[in-house]
Amino acid sequence: TRAVTAEQLESHLRAFQDAADAHGGDRATGTAGYRASVDHVVERLRAAGYDPRVQVFTVPYDEDHEHDHDHGHDDGEGMAAGPRVTYNVLADTATGDPDSTVVVGAHLDSVPESPGLNDNGSGAAGVLAIAEALAGTETRNRVRFAWWGAEEINLNGSGHYVSDLRANDPAAFDDIALYLNLDMIGSPNYGRFLYDGDSSWGGWHDGSPEAPAGSDAIEVAFESYFESVGLAAEEVPIDDGSDHLVFAGAGIPVGGLFTGDSGEKTRQQVDLYGGRAGTDYDPCYHDACDDLGNVDLQVLEEMSDATAAVVLGFASSEIDDAA
Ligand code: PHE
Ligand code: ZN
Ligand code: ZN
Ligand code: ZN
Repeated sequence: TRAVTAEQLESHLRAFQDAADAHGGDRATGTAGYRASVDHVVERLRAAGYDPRVQVFTVPYDEDHEHDHDHGHDDGEGMAAGPRVTYNVLADTATGDPDSTVVVGAHLDSVPESPGLNDNGSGAAGVLAIAEALAGTETRNRVRFAWWGAEEINLNGSGHYVSDLRANDPAAFDDIALYLNLDMIGSPNYGRFLYDGDSSWGGWHDGSPEAPAGSDAIEVAFESYFESVGLAAEEVPIDDGSDHLVFAGAGIPVGGLFTGDSGEKTRQQVDLYGGRAGTDYDPCYHDACDDLGNVDLQVLEEMSDATAAVVLGFASSEIDDAA
């Protein structure tokens, strides 16, 4: 296994920035900027020896629920109201037990107001760099890499994937052992946050206060990794939605990493990570300034390395099917 490199990550981020620049400044659902992002992922996966699959689906246009974020309901550069065709990208390792599939994913779409380089070019580049690093590695369990469309529209892409699989191929759905999510992992005023897998806060799935059984083991795996490399990290309740909630809702153990969005960094967090207290982790969250310059490459590499190690760990061992 090769390590994830900053060069790899930067080249993927550049491709996402180019995709936005060439198509009106964003990579939102239904735009050419999104399609160009899909093309980049597919092209690099093929170059690494994978056989990627593009899943096409339609997102209903619903003005009231366009996305559950707090900016205005701008429907993008002259985009007509109406259903939008969009895409998920999926790629599997060629070896490994398919009955125990480790899925690692990130959303590939931006909001219409933004090129979306930290949200979520960072996570999408991370998953792609991990796929490249693991190419040709033989693991005990199969690994599936996923890039979701339309996360910014009510988690539509991961929602489509999971509901389609459950309805049409329940055996393949049962093969999913766990899901790891990367959404915003290069925030400029970052913290190193890992999804809390064991405490109760009430919003996990179907109103359950607990994360699905098995999620705690994922939190512990990330914790152990950060400890082993001497990097500070802390668990946070992920009460803002991202694609892991869809998997949790289907009873699949989930975990992931995050470096912060519009929340303010505390003094204690400055002691741990440096940066600026009282300032947002990402001052450009969902904004036009979320461009290449808004991504901290060093923390992006740290988070990608951590995820590569945790993916490899679960892919190499018998996964306790607690769920
Ligand atoms: N998914 C949210 C967004 O795209 C932000 C978020 C990131 C939420 C990570 C939870 C975890 O805007
Ligand atoms: Zn977002
Ligand atoms: Zn996001
Ligand atoms: Zn915990």
